[in-house]
Amino acid sequence: MAGCCDPRSYERLFGAKAAARDARRYRRRGLTGTARDLVELAGDVSGATVLDVGGGVGALELELLAAGAERATNVELSGGYEEEAAELLAERGLQGRVDRLVADFVSEPVEGHDVVVMHRVVCCYPDVDGLVGAAAARTRRRLLLTYPQERPWIRAGARVVNLALRLSGSSFRAYVHPVARMVEAASAHGLALNERRRRGVIWESAAFVRA
Ligand SMILES: C[S@@+](CC[C@H](N)C(=O)[O-])C[C@H]1O[C@@H](n2cnc3c(N)ncnc32)[C@H](O)[C@@H]1O
Repeated sequence: MAGCCDPRSYERLFGAKAAARDARRYRRRGLTGTARDLVELAGDVSGATVLDVGGGVGALELELLAAGAERATNVELSGGYEEEAAELLAERGLQGRVDRLVADFVSEPVEGHDVVVMHRVVCCYPDVDGLVGAAAARTRRRLLLTYPQERPWIRAGARVVNLALRLSGSSFRAYVHPVARMVEAASAHGLALNERRRRGVIWESAAFVRA
């Protein structure tokens, strides 16, 4: 399903306003709890290359670089984050160590990285097999995901959100993809599920490792 999405619907939701809010929050309070879980699940990242898919302003790769990673690549479908991301990189003097690309990751020929992260991204893309499969194919060591927990009321919430989006004229939709599909897509590229961790009542994180 490459090229399945209208980037404008993403830029409307994940545009400059969202970027300013995310950057402000990160400057004031650091990573959110679920993002901190991913940093922990990444393990020892000394010298590693990091690929942050749908990475927004790039807070996760900034923390992974601070934890010892060598370089990072951020592939974002929305171009709305670039200004804030550049400011955050400049504040930390990390401009030379992060490549940023505005593209749909699924249809982009991105090279392999040691650690691949997708924080709250699987729920924003219709083609779970394509997205997780493409991420797994680029993973040399570890793939880290955060996605909504599979609970009936979260599925009901997603339906309400999607109705509101439809009524507002947006073609963007939220998805609660089955974890079994993510495991299958990752294992088709040689990755095994290593750990699942729930935080609060909405988000779950998972670490996949190259078997
Ligand atoms: C809820 S936001 C999360 C942003 C950031 N990871 C965070 O947690 O703050 C989801 C992001 O995923 C991006 N995204 C979704 N599908 C994508 C794809 N196929 N390729 C690149 N980015 C994608 C969207 O543009 C959006 O910025």
